[in-house]
Amino acid sequence: MAMGTDRSSSISTTWRYRTKIPPLTFCMAFFMVVSSLPSTAEAYDPLDPNGNITIKWDIMQWTPDGYVAVVTIYNYQQYRHIQPPGWILGWKWAKKEVIWSMVGGQATEQGDCSKYKGNIPHCCKRDPSIVDLLPGTPYNMQIANCCKGGVISSWVQDPANAASSFQLSVGLAGTSKKTVKAPINVTLKTPGPGYTCGKANSVPSSKFVSQDGRRTTEALKTWNITCTYSQFLAQKTPTCCVSLSSFYNDTIVDCPTCSCGCQNNITNLGGCIEGDSPYLASAVNGPGRSSNAALLQCTSHMCPIRIHWHVKLNYKDYWRVKIAITNFNYGMNYTQWNLVVQHPNFDNLTQIFSFNYKSLTPYGGINDTAMLWGIKFYNDLLMQDGPNGNVQSELLFRKDPLTFTFDKGWAFPRRVYFNGDNCVMPPPDAYPWLPNSTPQSRESLFLPVVVLWAALTWWLIQV
Ligand SMILES: *[C@@H]1O[C@H](CO)[C@@H](O)[C@H](O)[C@H]1NC(C)=O
Ligand SMILES: *[C@@H]1O[C@H](CO)[C@@H](O)[C@H](O)[C@H]1NC(C)=O
Ligand SMILES: *[C@@H]1O[C@H](CO)[C@@H](O)[C@H](O)[C@H]1NC(C)=O
Ligand SMILES: *[C@@H]1O[C@H](CO)[C@@H](O)[C@H](O)[C@H]1NC(C)=O
Ligand SMILES: *[C@@H]1O[C@H](CO)[C@@H](O)[C@H](O)[C@H]1NC(C)=O
Ligand SMILES: *[C@@H]1O[C@H](CO)[C@@H](O)[C@H](O)[C@H]1NC(C)=O
Ligand SMILES: *[C@@H]1O[C@H](CO)[C@@H](O)[C@H](O)[C@H]1NC(C)=O
Ligand SMILES: *[C@@H]1O[C@H](CO)[C@@H](O)[C@H](O)[C@H]1NC(C)=O
Repeated sequence: MAMGTDRSSSISTTWRYRTKIPPLTFCMAFFMVVSSLPSTAEAYDPLDPNGNITIKWDIMQWTPDGYVAVVTIYNYQQYRHIQPPGWILGWKWAKKEVIWSMVGGQATEQGDCSKYKGNIPHCCKRDPSIVDLLPGTPYNMQIANCCKGGVISSWVQDPANAASSFQLSVGLAGTSKKTVKAPINVTLKTPGPGYTCGKANSVPSSKFVSQDGRRTTEALKTWNITCTYSQFLAQKTPTCCVSLSSFYNDTIVDCPTCSCGCQNNITNLGGCIEGDSPYLASAVNGPGRSSNAALLQCTSHMCPIRIHWHVKLNYKDYWRVKIAITNFNYGMNYTQWNLVVQHPNFDNLTQIFSFNYKSLTPYGGINDTAMLWGIKFYNDLLMQDGPNGNVQSELLFRKDPLTFTFDKGWAFPRRVYFNGDNCVMPPPDAYPWLPNSTPQSRESLFLPVVVLWAALTWWLIQV
């Protein structure tokens, strides 16, 4: 939503400056602006411009017909994590490779190994899909950083758990640096849409320092694959929305209706569950329900997550905000949830209660973006819908007299992400007003649109 507002304001300024230019140039400029927008505005995440997942493929040892490699997935994204059911990594072999055995991970399908007698490979597929092993795997099947069910934390929240590894022994591959071939078309099949992986690059071999720090060894050969996330490619329907209120106005501005979907009570499919329905317990615990399926409580917004921002108190030098996150999904506990909030006053955040905080400064100087997440064993688990299905915190900001105001919705956040997904905000003209103030005028956008229409019509008549 915030993106949409940015876009219209940039178009309207473009128009204002170009009203003297002949209409053809005018139209071309307009279409150039519009067509260039999705790629520049959404191809990467403006709040985490360098975020990526890097997959490192380290060949540790040659074998008679191939090699042993350790593959590590590093999540270098500040706040996007991989939650249950975990990652699935796929690729295509460049030659006729097979996987003889694996440690700390497994191929989901063995494929056709009918050519083999005696020693049968772990996987003969041309395009294997690998998953992590589950916690509790026997020690002799583990390696470092494995066996977390494919869950990977974000870099800021828990860097110690932001990587996941497995080891594989590859046969029918080359047995020297010159004859091995990197895997091709590497994909993160889960989390899937949104992640695009580049091709494998040969990079300087990884170095490993022994525990006492007195000896360094290195991989025989290393490839890197970088995957980046794009909300534009993911094209998910929104999963969260924002509601607003303030001490100075009684109005509670709820999430926009149908933010994440509309109630469909004609058929039961794609529907929702009334909170007081006697059918609730059987729907939530009943047979045939898959874990992580959305079992939404009926709301006007139909989002599994709502973030409420309440401007609570006004002191002489400070002001106070209460944030509450509510889970409307009966089918999901959010582990290690996180929130990213953009507000100009974050450079003067004085105190935060019961959440962790880190400032994210995607643009160097402008310190207006905060990442918030729960405290371990206290509120890092956002429970399924019900009496415990919410977490809350309060923020205390110091007023900067030059910028501080309650007018024009300034006290409300500009952009909110939950677990890396952009949340739907109410339209700016619906924000609670200060008593006796007028809402923002819409003319600033309206006028350029009229000019555009006039110009287009004039140009069409000429040709
Ligand atoms: C991936 O992220 C790491 C850590 O932020 C960074 O060093 C690296 O340059 C990034 N890679 C790409 C291709 O952006
Ligand atoms: C790899 O992926 C690209 C793009 O999806 C596709 O055009 C190409 O055919 C794939 N290569 C192989 C060997 O499957
Ligand atoms: C390769 O990956 C490592 C670890 O992720 C990273 O530090 C390094 O910058 C990457 N190198 C290239 C050339 O992408
Ligand atoms: C659908 O739900 C709305 C609100 O819960 C209710 O007013 C309406 O009567 C329902 N429609 C049908 C067809 O059940
Ligand atoms: C969420 O966690 C609670 C407590 O651990 C558990 O009872 C409940 O079944 C979990 N819900 C889901 C949907 O996994
Ligand atoms: C941003 O502002 C907060 C609150 O004043 C401060 O704690 C943090 O260190 C600042 N971050 C940067 C990068 O300046
Ligand atoms: C708010 O933070 C900015 C940047 O850190 C600083 O220059 C300014 O003096 C602060 N204002 C107040 C009132 O503390
Ligand atoms: C509160 O804000 C709403 C807009 O959301 C506005 O319609 C209403 O008049 C405001 N109330 C007062 C007392 O100003």
